[in-house]
Amino acid sequence: MSTLDMTRIPEHVGIIMDGNGRWAKERGMARVQGHSAGMKALKEIVKRADTLGVKYLTVYAFSTENWVRPADEVSGIFKLLVLYVAQELKELDDNNVKVNILGDVSPLPEDAKNSIEKALRTTGNNTGLVFNIAINYGARAEIASAVNALIAEGRREIVPDDISSRLYTAGMPDPDLIIRTGGEYRLSNFLLWQAAYSELVIRPEYWPDFTPEVFEEAISEYQGRDRRFGGVK
Ligand code: IPE
Ligand code: IPE
Ligand code: MG
Repeated sequence: MSTLDMTRIPEHVGIIMDGNGRWAKERGMARVQGHSAGMKALKEIVKRADTLGVKYLTVYAFSTENWVRPADEVSGIFKLLVLYVAQELKELDDNNVKVNILGDVSPLPEDAKNSIEKALRTTGNNTGLVFNIAINYGARAEIASAVNALIAEGRREIVPDDISSRLYTAGMPDPDLIIRTGGEYRLSNFLLWQAAYSELVIRPEYWPDFTPEVFEEAISEYQGRDRRFGGVK
């Protein structure tokens, strides 16, 4: 059991939910079944994040690079998104959770877009946990589109805050903690700009095995870190 300092819960937690495919493969299952198990893990983590007092939770669900996967896997992931909204939206709304999307949803299937629209509309005025789902998200595309917005405004000189305020996360604090499951030590195009001073915690568990207890262990590891932001103690 990890004992958490409830006065130092990270305000913004990002999660790279990786390892669904390997989880399924180890069990002789199809990759899509790994994503389905991953969705169950996500339900529990959102609840625990809320209970712990996390203010922003950002999960990486589908990257701009994931389109190259087999078509049945890609469509399976979007079907799970529809299912997730159907199963969870009421409870999310009851808990005052505000759903937000990071990424370009325009190339998604119609039913996925409709579910997203419904989730955004239903929870739009909620004031509790901000639950960001990164879907068809890539940090490089996000930064390039912020720069294009500045060009369109006719700007000839900019400062870093001009970029920050044109990202999907405009107005939100940067992630204090980024967790990656599945054991890989990389960001895979997740929140590259916002992660400048994030603490990184890599967990060996595949995402479907990431329980609320492991989540608390990751937060406990974060609480043991010395964040200096370039300064001295
Ligand atoms: C992460 O699990 C989920 C998505 C990228 C959509 P993976 O599907 O990447 O699982 P592994 O890395 O192949 O095990
Ligand atoms: C990152 O995982 C994307 C998501 C978790 C949605 P990937 O499995 O796509 O990343 P790589 O390919 O291992 O870098
Ligand atoms: Mg992966």
